[in-house]
Amino acid sequence: MIDFCGIELAHPVVNGSGTFDALAARRAFGDALLEDFPFAAFVSKTVTLEPRQGNPPPRLWELPAGLLNSIGLPNKGLRRYLAEDLPELADLPVPLIVNVMGASPDEVGRLVAAFAERDEVAALELNVSCPNVKTGLLMGADPGETAALLDEVRHLTSKPLIVKLTPNCASPAVVAAAAEAHGADAVSLINTLRGMAMDPRRPGRPWLGGGTGGVSGPAVRAVALAQVREVRSRVAIPIVGMGGVQSARHASDLLEAGADIVGVGTESFRDPMAGRRVADELARLATRGPAARRGDLEPSARIAQNG
Ligand code: DHB
Repeated sequence: MIDFCGIELAHPVVNGSGTFDALAARRAFGDALLEDFPFAAFVSKTVTLEPRQGNPPPRLWELPAGLLNSIGLPNKGLRRYLAEDLPELADLPVPLIVNVMGASPDEVGRLVAAFAERDEVAALELNVSCPNVKTGLLMGADPGETAALLDEVRHLTSKPLIVKLTPNCASPAVVAAAAEAHGADAVSLINTLRGMAMDPRRPGRPWLGGGTGGVSGPAVRAVALAQVREVRSRVAIPIVGMGGVQSARHASDLLEAGADIVGVGTESFRDPMAGRRVADELARLATRGPAARRGDLEPSARIAQNG
């Protein structure tokens, strides 16, 4: 068992928010999903106060080593989430971490307060990749904004608060330090990197309905490693490291860089059981001693494969 902010986890692998729909998976796989759930905790897709339709299509663009997406955070909104989804998610055999986003500290506070009362929720993750409507600044891109957000919401719950850092800013480590100083229990990183693709049939126009989108997958793995290491040098709180994890070796690299647990995201679209596969393989590596933990391949093979 691993202790993460006081939550007991059976292994160190969770999902990245929005990359695994546990309720849809339950319908597709039935109770088999509950008997062999791929993650040690389930992180929900972002919940907002009001329902959102999401962005117009197209919403996805495949990259040579990853995915560009602009989904636009569709969700049913707080009221229906509490009434319809939360009771079902409580059936999962793992702790539930609810990801929330608001357009101002006050809005985030209303979400935090609502979930604070619900026993089904083990922790909250704050999606700060959203502009503050009052200041126009991305709440997670500026240490002052992040500090102000935590000052508004920290006292509303005793549940752990995890701040999901954005890589799209001058210094995620400085933002992480502000989050820690203002009461965050953990940080998670990296969120997607902003990117775009041009429409092959309409010169000068972006492909995605949302214009720009988020890059994820193997393309961002090196960015994640560097940022996790830098954040670790600035904070003592636990880190959820994620970005391009496809195998136990990638997970183990993030753990060595300073993460306490790891997230699997884009890989779950290819293989819904990727989390389980990575967790099982990590456990196998752990029994083989420190040298083996550094890689399931010999160093020369790792260099040749360059993955
Ligand atoms: C959405 C996409 C992302 O890649 C992300 O990191 C957050 C939200 C979305 O469009 O829903």
